[in-house]
Amino acid sequence: MAYDWDRLAPPRSLREFEAHWSRRGDPHSFSGVWRFHALLPFASREDCVTIGEGQTLLQRSDRIARYVGLNPGRLFLQYEGMNPSGSFKDNGMSAAFTHARLTEAKKAACASTGNTSASLALYCAVTRLMRAVIFVGSGKIAYGKLSQALDYGALTVQIAGDFDDAMRRVKEVSRTLGIYLVNSLNPFRLEGQKTIMFRVLEALGWEVPEWIIVPGGNLGNSSAFGKAFRELLELGLIPRAPRLAVINATGANTLYDLFENQGLRWNGGRPDPDLIRKYYEDMDRRGRRAETIASAIEINRPVNLTKCLQALDTCRGVVREVTDQEILDAKAQVGAGGLGCEPASAATVAGLKRLAAEGVVGPDERVVCILTGHQLKDPTATVAYHTTDQDMFDRVLGSRGVHRATFANRAVSVADDLNEIIRAIELYG
Ligand code: F0G
Repeated sequence: MAYDWDRLAPPRSLREFEAHWSRRGDPHSFSGVWRFHALLPFASREDCVTIGEGQTLLQRSDRIARYVGLNPGRLFLQYEGMNPSGSFKDNGMSAAFTHARLTEAKKAACASTGNTSASLALYCAVTRLMRAVIFVGSGKIAYGKLSQALDYGALTVQIAGDFDDAMRRVKEVSRTLGIYLVNSLNPFRLEGQKTIMFRVLEALGWEVPEWIIVPGGNLGNSSAFGKAFRELLELGLIPRAPRLAVINATGANTLYDLFENQGLRWNGGRPDPDLIRKYYEDMDRRGRRAETIASAIEINRPVNLTKCLQALDTCRGVVREVTDQEILDAKAQVGAGGLGCEPASAATVAGLKRLAAEGVVGPDERVVCILTGHQLKDPTATVAYHTTDQDMFDRVLGSRGVHRATFANRAVSVADDLNEIIRAIELYG
């Protein structure tokens, strides 16, 4: 989606957005998405749908800085789990709903690893604008997320397959039945997700950090971030774009493989189609399936692949892959030192640790990791990591190549006896 800025009224300085802070009684000024309306002006301000999304926090974390090898004061965590449905998806959903309302759609659908569906279900429940139809891979979605879809009343279709299967089906079904599709191939979603970057800049006093680190699944976020920075550069509102690092799980590493191993590039808008086609043909021939504890990014066919290549081009990006072991260790560190996050989000911290060890990210560079989803989204992964129950550990994590829980905080079992309880507190407290 391209804007004709000459016909619109873009801000002359990012500081202009601060005027909204004193008008927080107005829901559109309160919204962390729509207070940046001037930078995503595809609908009139009055038409914009909001349920209070984007009240998120940038937290400095010296603990995580130490863990990844950065100097104090250089690492920040952007907590998108504070959104109404507990993930960054609400940024894009408010924009997609705004567009859907203009089209007078009655039903909206998505395929999801859980967060998009939770967000869609919540926006439907609160706004009553549409009925939610969600497609999820059977057994492929974390309980926190499934519980949201069910609670918010979405029609929940469990497909016998994974996200990639569900994605293929939802496209067919929405085309056949004329249902509004809200997956991130919907360009309006990406417009809303640009605002995550605007809030990061706002929290840094409008200074551009050296690095943004984001998990890569369907690649909507990374694509949206690249577009945000291209537009800010075009409008002369920032002096340079930050560098971008997209982090895949090793078990779902299509972008990493294509970008870092096979040299796929944006190439001025002409990424090599044969390379991509052959990669997927080979994947099908070998029956390769995405497999990671970070179920949110358990995706082998990212729908925004080429848009993400453009973002990597804009932001001199790099891509890394991290194992489930690295993800869960990083997640335990985030939980111990802050508000916590779900596994996919912790991939950013694990990826940064690698990049710092490689010397790609320097110890004095200012880095922002996007924590995309709330700690409570996937309680199973968290409890399994900290558990004393070896059977549970093996069942949930061992099968995925996770064999250590270096940072586990184990519960202490004690008899229902005052003296024993006191002894335990003195021993471990
Ligand atoms: N982190 C979380 C918590 C997510 O839920 C997702 C994607 C990502 C990262 C990856 O973001 O797709 O923009 O690259 N979840 C989607 C869903 C696929 O269905 O909820 P992306």
